Amino acid sequence: MSLFAAFAYLLSSALFILGLKLLSSPKTARRGNLYGAIGMLIAIVVTLGDKNIIDYTYIIIGLLVGSAIGTILARKVQMTAMPQMVGVLNGFGGGASALVAYAEYGRMGSQTAGNAPDVLVMLGLSLLIGVVTFVGSMVAAAKLHGVMRGAPILYSFQKQSNAAILFAIVALIALFTINPAQWYLLIAIIGLSAILGVTSVIPIGGADMPVVISLMNSYSGLAAAATGFLLSNNVLIISGTLVGTSGIILTNIMCKAMNRSLANVLFAGVGADYEGQTTTTEQRTVIRYTADDAAFMLENAQSVIIVPGYGLAVAQAQHVLQEMASILVGKGVSVRYAIHPVAGRMPGHMNVLLAEANVPYELLLEMDQINDDFQSTDVALVIGANDVVNPAARTKKESPLYGMPILNVDQARTTLVCKRSLNPGFAGEDNDLFYDKKTMMVFGDAKATITGIIQVLKK
Ligand code: TAP
Repeated sequence: MSLFAAFAYLLSSALFILGLKLLSSPKTARRGNLYGAIGMLIAIVVTLGDKNIIDYTYIIIGLLVGSAIGTILARKVQMTAMPQMVGVLNGFGGGASALVAYAEYGRMGSQTAGNAPDVLVMLGLSLLIGVVTFVGSMVAAAKLHGVMRGAPILYSFQKQSNAAILFAIVALIALFTINPAQWYLLIAIIGLSAILGVTSVIPIGGADMPVVISLMNSYSGLAAAATGFLLSNNVLIISGTLVGTSGIILTNIMCKAMNRSLANVLFAGVGADYEGQTTTTEQRTVIRYTADDAAFMLENAQSVIIVPGYGLAVAQAQHVLQEMASILVGKGVSVRYAIHPVAGRMPGHMNVLLAEANVPYELLLEMDQINDDFQSTDVALVIGANDVVNPAARTKKESPLYGMPILNVDQARTTLVCKRSLNPGFAGEDNDLFYDKKTMMVFGDAKATITGIIQVLKK
């Protein structure tokens, strides 16, 4: 590698690290994204220039086809389908690492045996992690998209058989390292890794898929780092490691927010008992409010905390919500937003949604910052949120939500809940909050309801 390329890789790596740092705040996130993209552009251009490539035909065709597909998907995919989109992209990252590793084996040709054992181990690991990531991500995306049943698929000796497959792959990598001329060992590694990708994800319930996607993101980084060692490419090692570590940190944050361990998410088959359970929206009575009633209550409040959830994204009601909040602020009402770490379907889902509607960042407060304030708040306005305000998380031991910290909306003087029905949220758990005597239900699509409230507020 030339000195120029080494310097350019260093610059790219610095831009990746800076980009990650900037991504940690919504205010600087766009700049962080841009820095990361520039870093990647530099790395790609320098790699293409440095590798003595004789024919660019396939590279250009790949670039054009990939860019076209990427542009169409980025424009077409709905915000609500973003988690599975991210899942598919992670999968492609893992798949690409595996393909590069396999191609590198082909390039080594008769020289294979001349390679140091660590290079051969890395080749095996790239295939293992890359293929598991690719197949596992596709299964996770299919579950999230509803193409596959979301419920955990469980069978006897599942953990043991997965451990046996993993052990067999490690043994094959060891055999391959001893005699790298045995190409069919690589085929066996790929086949078993594909099986492991399926069998390790199917026992995990649909509600936990965002955690799996984040974990797969981490794996895709590890696969890239292993490929980086194989190719002796520093920028690939660094960027892969950054993805690997940030993915695992995010996975950990999500698990903590749900008060679950990663082992519990991966192995406990949470959600199996709930499959097919119909909601017991039995004959208990709820207090129904109209948009007019809600508007009256909101404009007469001194303080309002808005709790957004997945339904806000479904209804695409963020813009009208922002408009309603501005009107209330204009009338002297204090309005803030309480953001639960797993509200919606992906990390930061609500932050992204509200940022899109230009809600000032300083009004968005994390659960820990705002949870004690509900008791001194006049109205908690819950919009399309359900699980993140479900008291079953505090009391109902058999519930999949049990132990998850929730937003204390039931401690506010009054709680207004805007959703279409009494149906449960993602976890399939009925919500006693709806039947509380301090809770008023405003049934309907969130956008329509808020638009109705705005009309009354404007009168
Ligand atoms: P949910 O519990 O899924 O509830 C969303 C509610 O929105 C539904 O009950 C639905 O009720 C309502 N809704 C849907 N469309 C609507 C519309 N057009 N207008 C009004 N309401 C609408 O959402 P949440 O409270 O945000 O909780 C998130 C769940 O996802 C949690 O269980 C969490 O653990 C899980 N999860 C999230 C993540 C991340 S990172 N965010 C990761 C893993 C798991 P109706 O059908 O009655 O309208």
